[in-house]
Amino acid sequence: MSDCFVVAIDGPAGAGKSTTAKAVAEKLGFACLDSGALYRAVALLLVEAGADPSDERVVGPLLAGVRISQSADGEQTFLNDRNVTSLLRSARVSDAASRSSALPAVRSALIELQRAAATGEGLVVEGRDMGTVVFPRAALKVFLDADEDERARRRGLELGLSGTAKLEKLGAEMAERDRRDRSRKVAPLRPAEDSLVLDTTSFSLQEVIDAVVNEVLSRKKLAK
Ligand code: DC
Repeated sequence: MSDCFVVAIDGPAGAGKSTTAKAVAEKLGFACLDSGALYRAVALLLVEAGADPSDERVVGPLLAGVRISQSADGEQTFLNDRNVTSLLRSARVSDAASRSSALPAVRSALIELQRAAATGEGLVVEGRDMGTVVFPRAALKVFLDADEDERARRRGLELGLSGTAKLEKLGAEMAERDRRDRSRKVAPLRPAEDSLVLDTTSFSLQEVIDAVVNEVLSRKKLAK
């Protein structure tokens, strides 16, 4: 990872991490890693096996038989050679991912896979513990946040949901998953001490992307 410029973007669901990470990577010609999709792929494996996603004992044997991978742009995720991207965003998989990602066996199984992505000129990674655990020496750490209602609104738009009742249900599910992410013992969601914290509640997506790209460019200049 030594020569790879790593941009670590963390934050709660709906803060705009994925869209920002992909746009920043594209703008800079960097690779991109969607670590949440890796956790979702593990969750899908557990759901399909009919396993309890909170049961540490079933995870090891199931993971031993499978290879998880992702395309360099972070867009496509594979279980062995099967492209599972379109199966990862259902409510069932989201809930299972939130539970199974708290298990130490799941986190340790994915850590080297994530670090191995840092090979080229640059990599944008997004998730919950990119700056705190997986890439503690990242060249830039960003923590994206936004208030709860705004995050539910954004995620609702992404999922094509409309109507107050549906958005309220989505907001409540997201709040519960965030609570789990923030309170788990291993790699809880929190900003790294040296991260740039951006509250994006009143920012447009383009403003957030520009802020991150400009920060990368100025740090690259300083490093020269
Ligand atoms: O970012 P996402 O919504 O796709 O993440 C899915 C789940 O995985 C979510 O519950 C948080 C968890 N996750 C994690 O624990 N660590 C990461 N680095 C990325 C995601």
